[in-house]
Amino acid sequence: MATTRPERGRTGPRRLGNLQGERVYLRPPSTDDTALLFEWLNDPEAIAPWDRFEVESYRSMEEAIHRSSEDQTSLAPRFLIVRKKGDYPIGVVGYFKSNTALDSIDVWYAITIEKERGRGYGKEAVRLMVDYLFAHFRTERVGATSDIDNPASMGMLRSLGFREEGKLRRALFHHGEVHDVVVYGVTRPEWQDARDRRH
Ligand SMILES: CC(C)(COP(=O)(O)OP(=O)(O)OC[C@H]1O[C@@H](n2cnc3c(N)ncnc32)[C@H](O)[C@@H]1OP(=O)(O)O)[C@@H](O)C(=O)NCCC(=O)NCCS
Repeated sequence: MATTRPERGRTGPRRLGNLQGERVYLRPPSTDDTALLFEWLNDPEAIAPWDRFEVESYRSMEEAIHRSSEDQTSLAPRFLIVRKKGDYPIGVVGYFKSNTALDSIDVWYAITIEKERGRGYGKEAVRLMVDYLFAHFRTERVGATSDIDNPASMGMLRSLGFREEGKLRRALFHHGEVHDVVVYGVTRPEWQDARDRRH
């Protein structure tokens, strides 16, 4: 069966605006956020264990975030997750083309403030991000990988309608050990169905 490709740019928009949710909104990082991001990206309990983004120096991180709008493979944080109540950042989300030969985009995410986990903010933020990706990119699949020992990440992906597609063995190193990861994906029609059911 032939599928109709949406008329959207393959590479997405250059400049990102804010994405509004009910309890959180996403906003692109500004230079004022650099110190906070540097702290989070180096914190072994926040983002650092899962992150592969360059945080060698404050300056290199700042430059990489600045350049990321031109680079679909960048692992830089694309948005801060901001809690509306209190208006303060509680985490980050990003997206990247993990395989340049495929029409697929991966998401990554972290609620970096531990006490804010398990309150539905991660799910709402990733939902905003996936809505955004399907709206602005021609991709037919959004993917994510999760450490096999990360029940919160896997629970959130399943709850959003991502399906398990396989496993990658010994693919992630953190906290001194190699871990297997689970590959998840959601297709454009599946995401649309889930949206229709919610409305
Ligand atoms: C993974 C993470 C982003 C999830 O965000 P969160 O705000 O804590 O999760 P939410 O409260 O939005 O929960 C979303 C769903 O996941 C489920 N979930 C959350 N924590 C869970 C846990 N520890 N075990 C099982 N399921 C869990 C919830 O039940 C919920 O499902 P439901 O809506 O169907 O009830 C967050 O816990 C986190 O940042 N953890 C540390 C960093 C990390 O693991 N990053 C991911 C690297 S791949």
